[in-house]
Amino acid sequence: MQDFIRGLPKTEFHIHLEGSLEPEMMFELGVRNDIALPYASVDEVRAAYAFSNLQSFLDIYYQGAAVLIHEQDFYGMTWAYLQKMHAENVRHVEVFFDPQTHTDRGVAFETVITGIQRALNDAREQYALSSELIMCFLRHLSEESAQATLQQSLPFKDRIKAVGLDSSELGNPPEKFRSVFEEARRHGYLTVAHAGEEGPPDYIWGALDILGVSRIDHGVRCDEDPALMERLREEQVPLTVCPLSNVKLCVFDHMSDHNLGRLLEQGLCVTVHSDDPAYFGGYMNETYSAIQRHLDLTREDLHQLARNGVQATFLPEREKARLVQELDDYVANA
Ligand code: ADE
Ligand code: ZN
Repeated sequence: MQDFIRGLPKTEFHIHLEGSLEPEMMFELGVRNDIALPYASVDEVRAAYAFSNLQSFLDIYYQGAAVLIHEQDFYGMTWAYLQKMHAENVRHVEVFFDPQTHTDRGVAFETVITGIQRALNDAREQYALSSELIMCFLRHLSEESAQATLQQSLPFKDRIKAVGLDSSELGNPPEKFRSVFEEARRHGYLTVAHAGEEGPPDYIWGALDILGVSRIDHGVRCDEDPALMERLREEQVPLTVCPLSNVKLCVFDHMSDHNLGRLLEQGLCVTVHSDDPAYFGGYMNETYSAIQRHLDLTREDLHQLARNGVQATFLPEREKARLVQELDDYVANA
């Protein structure tokens, strides 16, 4: 099964680039950029990664991202991630970045996007690994701040496929960002949003009906609302589920309690992702492995998850068909 997972052609589209910053690189950049971190060693950093909920993680995550200053830093972080994805047989990625985390510290929007984009271009050339970029607004900040970020993004609009919504969910419902999402859609951006990770099913309804999202990031609390389950199933709205994240952030006590298998069984378009792999203990292969073991998933289940993953990307239909064919051929011969 581990070999089957390793060889499976995969897609990844719920990954925060800042969440791929491994402690070693964080430490190195902290020294190079003279940014003090409250840890004496890489081991101490890892020891701090014991979270009780989303906010306890976000506090540490934003602190870690503060070591990113120069274009080369964003390049290096993104390139390290893409090298790993290439090694794990990931064929296409759609990556999140949080501009406000950097612009609020005085780093230029252009510095961030240029570094990330250069790495994405290199991966396209060297690995034939295709990609899109998704710019997330931080929901604990104001809508005005999100509006300002949207304006800053416009000169780079051709390089950004979609806008998203992340950070502290509870108390920051989708309707807070109604206008900025409307304006983003007018500029041609697609939309996605984190919803139903810690927040109630109402936030998932809001993401669909108010923000007009193409996918729900997480969405695992949908099973508390039968009418919502029916809507998600009927419309095959992708849920980008991040099982390792959900266990680390105590959304589920243990992987064997995770509802991913039940959602899949009920015909929802579930896909599987790593969220913040440097913080939650695994990238794509580890994630597939963990759910396979703890939820007793079959090869057919994994095939379905990978196929959902292709269908839920923002790739053109022709590319999706090509990837599904590659996936089906792989499974038939594995
Ligand atoms: N930012 C990075 N990871 C996140 C998560 N799991 N939920 C919300 N915001 C995030
Ligand atoms: Zn996320």
